[in-house]
Amino acid sequence: MATAPGNHGEDVAAQAELRWAVFVMVVIGLLLVMIAFASLHWVMMPARRVETINPTTLHLTGEFVEDNLGSAVEPDGSVTVRLVGQQYSFVPQCIVVPDNTPVRFRGTSADVIHGFIIADTNVNVMLEPGYISTFQARFRKPGMHVMPCHEFCSVGHAGMWARVKVIDRDSFFKQAQTERRQSCVQQ
Ligand code: CUA
Repeated sequence: MATAPGNHGEDVAAQAELRWAVFVMVVIGLLLVMIAFASLHWVMMPARRVETINPTTLHLTGEFVEDNLGSAVEPDGSVTVRLVGQQYSFVPQCIVVPDNTPVRFRGTSADVIHGFIIADTNVNVMLEPGYISTFQARFRKPGMHVMPCHEFCSVGHAGMWARVKVIDRDSFFKQAQTERRQSCVQQ
């Protein structure tokens, strides 16, 4: 036999409602604190460095002119790879790097957002027009890796890819004595 809820039932319901209302307020309060904390944190600690570049003059002047792309040895013995992504290819099309050497990638885009991964490595970089992306990597052993674009960049996206050829350190640095910039496009 059912009994109609009396004052006692209403009290229990009111208390449960209050408990849940408090719980929800606490959750919302926590989220607000997290948002405030994250905002303040990023205001006080902006990205370590942001390098910008004019995407409309990449091929005409500066670091990313065509004959400056590819791999170059730095005075400290590390290697810098400079590359440009554009609809729908990477320049250079084949990048040669030494094994067991710190390799710094510096890349940007001439048009829309592109990105690349280097298969079988943890290299995963976005290339944004107007910004220079940097990434440091080290390749353990010689081999050939495919390097596809991984940001949808319009109709030719699926055909946009390059290759990375890792060669042993000694051969790389020997070649570097005669070539200012190295790539493996012709090989
Ligand atoms: Cu470039 Cu997708």
